[in-house]
Amino acid sequence: MKKRYAFLAAAAVSFTAAALFWQSRTQSRNEENKEIRIGIALYRGNDPFINSLRSQIEDRAKEYEQATGIKVVLDVADPKGNQNTQNSQVERFLSLGCDALCVNMVDRSAASYVINKAMDADVPVIFFNREPVEEDMKRWERLYYVGENARESAVLQGTILADAWKADPLSLDLNGDGRVSYVLLEGESSHQDSLIRTEWSVQTLKDGGIPIERLTGGIANWDRSQASALMGQWLEEFPGQIELVICNNDEMALGAADALERAEEGRPIRIVGIDGTPQGLEGVKKGKLFGTVRCDIREYAEIIFEIAAAEALGQDVRGQIELTSGIYYECGQEAVTGEDLQ
Ligand code: GAL
Repeated sequence: MKKRYAFLAAAAVSFTAAALFWQSRTQSRNEENKEIRIGIALYRGNDPFINSLRSQIEDRAKEYEQATGIKVVLDVADPKGNQNTQNSQVERFLSLGCDALCVNMVDRSAASYVINKAMDADVPVIFFNREPVEEDMKRWERLYYVGENARESAVLQGTILADAWKADPLSLDLNGDGRVSYVLLEGESSHQDSLIRTEWSVQTLKDGGIPIERLTGGIANWDRSQASALMGQWLEEFPGQIELVICNNDEMALGAADALERAEEGRPIRIVGIDGTPQGLEGVKKGKLFGTVRCDIREYAEIIFEIAAAEALGQDVRGQIELTSGIYYECGQEAVTGEDLQ
C-alpha cells in the first residue's frame, strides 16, 4: 500500500513539475517575444458608450506597453450589429494568432459559438458589456465577464430624482397635481441591462416616496435618433402632460432633449440618463439633461485589458484581480447632476 502511495506521489510530483515547466515555458516565450496580440470584437462601433470604452482600452494598452516594454497589438472589429459577421471576425482573430479575445457580443445568447471556437484554439475570452448566460460562462475557466451592475445604475439614477423631489416636489410635478407623470425610453429588449434598469429606476422613485404615473414607454435601442422620434410622438400624444423622461442611457436622453428642442417645449421637463459618456456629461453641463450615472470607464477598460494581458502571458489572473465567482467584475459608477459639474 505504502509503495502505491509513494508511486502516486512521485507521479503527481513529476506531473506538477511538467505542468509548471510548460507554464513557465509559455510565459517566458511570450515575455521573451515581448508581444501580445489581443482581438477586440465590438457589437457596434458607432455606439458612443462602446466607442469611448474602445478608445480607453487603446489608451490602457499604450500605457501598458510603456510600463512593461511588452508590445501590444490590438485588432478591433466592428460587425455593425450582425452576429454572423462577428462570428467570422472572431474566427479571423483566432487565425491571426490572437493571445486573448475581448468580446462584446451582438447577441448575448449566441456566445456558445464564440466559446467553442476559443476553446478549440485555447484562447481566453473576456466578454464585456453584453453578458452571456451563466451556463455559457461556466463552461471554461478561461472565460470572464466585465460589466456594470444594472440594478446599481438604476438605483443611482432613481436617487437623483428622489433627492430632487425631497428638495422641491414642484421641480418634478410641474403642474402641481400631486403626481409626477413620466415616460420611459428603454434600450434593446434583449439586453440584460434594459429590463433591470427600467425596473429599478421606477422602484427607486416609489421607494423615495414620489407619487408617479406612467404615461407611456418604448424601446429606442440605446439610440439617439430613435429616442428623439419616439419622444416627438409622445409630446404630441400627451400635450402638456409629460413631466419627466427616464432613459436607460445617455444617448436616448439626448434624443429626448433633441425632441424637446424641436417642439420648442417651454416647460422644464427633467430628463435623466445613464453612462456618463462625454456627450452625456456635456448635456448635463448645458442643462439639457438633469443628471446621469457616470460609469468609471477608465476602470472598465483597465480591467478588461489587464485580464486579457495577464491571460495572454499565462499569468494568474485570479491572483491579480478579485473576481466574483472567479469570473465576474463589476465596475464603479456614480450619480452626476449639473451641480456636481459646476
Ligand atoms: C449599455 C449602455 C448603452 C449601450 C449598451 C450597448 O450598458 O448603457 O449606452 O452602450 O450598453 O450594449
